[in-house]
Amino acid sequence: MKIAIGCDHAGVDLKQILLASILKDHDVIDMGTNSKESVDYPDIAKLVAHAVTSGEAERGILICGTGIGMAMAAGKVKGIRAARCSEPYSSEMSRRHNDANVLCFGARVVGSGMAEKIVEVWLNTPFEGGRHARRVGKIE
Ligand code: RB5
Repeated sequence: MKIAIGCDHAGVDLKQILLASILKDHDVIDMGTNSKESVDYPDIAKLVAHAVTSGEAERGILICGTGIGMAMAAGKVKGIRAARCSEPYSSEMSRRHNDANVLCFGARVVGSGMAEKIVEVWLNTPFEGGRHARRVGKIE
């Protein structure tokens, strides 16, 4: 699966941990940022969201301090279903019921072990379709 990943300055360290662990065997496009210098999270969210809607990537992952700003920004892009998840149950359900195509979380909220589990579950859980497809269609 091709995954676009991005973060702001708050998420740089956690992104590097994930790239070296749970994401190391995936085809990942890193859309920045890669320094601790302050950047605006909507700029990164836009890059990742457009990578997903254009088909350059199948899914996107966004990390900021809380995950909130990234989810708000990515969710403004038509076709993006961004889910902010701080534990694996929500990340699983965001796939099963909501067909989330962008996962967001906060580097100041979750530790690296929890983030790895959130990502692992999210990447490996299919959309259930059926009645959920009707509901997702209403979002679109
Ligand atoms: C940056 O300080 C912080 O506001 C950002 O990472 C994010 O948490 C916003 O939602």
